[in-house]
Amino acid sequence: MHRQGHRDAAAIGHPALPGHEPRLRADQEPLGVLHRAGPGVVAEIRAGLFEFRRRAALGGQAADPDPAGATRRTGKPRIIETEAFFQFHFANGFEEDGTLVLDVARYPDYRTIGQALRDYWKSEWPSQGMATLTRLRVDLSTGKVGSRTYDSGRANEFPIINPANVGKRQRYAYIACNPADRVVGLQQQLARIDLETGAVAKHDFGPDGYPGEPLFIATRPGGAEDDGVVVTLVFDAARQRTDIVGLDARDLAAKPLFVAKLKHHVPYSLHGTFTPRLV
Ligand SMILES: [Fe+2]
Repeated sequence: MHRQGHRDAAAIGHPALPGHEPRLRADQEPLGVLHRAGPGVVAEIRAGLFEFRRRAALGGQAADPDPAGATRRTGKPRIIETEAFFQFHFANGFEEDGTLVLDVARYPDYRTIGQALRDYWKSEWPSQGMATLTRLRVDLSTGKVGSRTYDSGRANEFPIINPANVGKRQRYAYIACNPADRVVGLQQQLARIDLETGAVAKHDFGPDGYPGEPLFIATRPGGAEDDGVVVTLVFDAARQRTDIVGLDARDLAAKPLFVAKLKHHVPYSLHGTFTPRLV
């Protein structure tokens, strides 16, 4: 059960950018408890769903003229409970027709990923107990939470979408994964998931390639949602070097659009971003 007066927020997904993590002032309350990890691991995770509250407050508008101010808006917190699970990362979240839709990399609990992270340098990185891309649908009138998974294999992590659709309905997500029959090992595939039809296309970097988080780079502003390039760093275990690989977001399984072979390796990273600006 949640502790009265507890004011920590947003252990749900860790921030990609320092300083962007949601924080609560003393007079604020989190929007609600979305999920909980197993007892003894993490007693409770409170979800600071400021983005979703903000969208709701703005009547679903995509543009937010005052994001810093909007995130400080508060209202009566709503507690929604569902079965226990754990997650680090969202692909996206949006609200439509009285339903909060959340696309997350969902773990059954923290135990497997927690142990793998503690043993990172020697872990075999088991697939059992790792995350699955899951679409949660929170019915805001009843508080009931439905879920759907996709044929995206195992060890799903680092879900991303076209950033133009953050906070808005999106159709496609991209995620690192392994084949369904893979028992151990870091991810060697990237998948594109059509969240409407359930269709999944995969690019396999095996036997020696290990991709990191995919990044979606739009071909042009205002283009179709999947008109872009999925770029990732791929560690080539045979060459002991890293490649920068670009895949056609519409045809992920196809031969890469480009492969830039670096003369060195790039240490495994978690998150990245892309900007057309040079600073
Ligand atoms: Fe993260």
